Amino acid sequence: MKIIFATNNSHKLAEVEAVLGEGFALSTPREHGITEEIPEEQPTLEGNASQKSHYIYARTGCDCFADDTGLEVEALNGAPGVHSARYATDGHDFAANNRRLLEELQGAASRRARFRTVISLIVDGEEHLFEGVVEGHIALGEAGCGGFGYDPLFVPDGCDCTFAEMAAEQKNAISHRGRAVAKLVEFLHNRVK
Ligand code: IMP
Repeated sequence: MKIIFATNNSHKLAEVEAVLGEGFALSTPREHGITEEIPEEQPTLEGNASQKSHYIYARTGCDCFADDTGLEVEALNGAPGVHSARYATDGHDFAANNRRLLEELQGAASRRARFRTVISLIVDGEEHLFEGVVEGHIALGEAGCGGFGYDPLFVPDGCDCTFAEMAAEQKNAISHRGRAVAKLVEFLHNRVK
């Protein structure tokens, strides 16, 4: 099945390709001539995922999906949440975001957090939403150099290391995005049966 993944983030693309497995030919917006930044201006992860998939569908008419992810920290009332990409600066500055998160959590009673991903799939012109969540906590300092974003700070429940210290397959097996993509794959497999 040919499908467009509305991202230009190479880390995400690799993660999703690994979980999708055989039978899917993923392409990116750039390969369809869409080089501008895809708008994500909504106040929720659901809204942003939906806005991005509809944008790609309107431009291409092809089956497509988009994801949006947020890190929701208990002691920060769910922040950075939908603002995770631009927590510290206007750009996607992962190091600055991680510094700010550690600063905000200094002295916090709880370091509980979760990653939540929402995927909006448009297939045959109809939208379907899928959610994936992983619970965990924010470490006292950064560890590991794999992955991206907040991975060096996030320790999933049941593990004693951060996402950034794990092999890619280990992260994919339990991550928010891995879980959301698994639901997407199950849906698509059932559809073609
Ligand atoms: P996006 O809008 O889905 O690209 O995600 C927003 C921000 O959340 C990214 O810029 C990253 O900082 C962070 N993020 C998303 N997914 C992950 C992940 O798997 N690990 C760590 N950080 C992530």
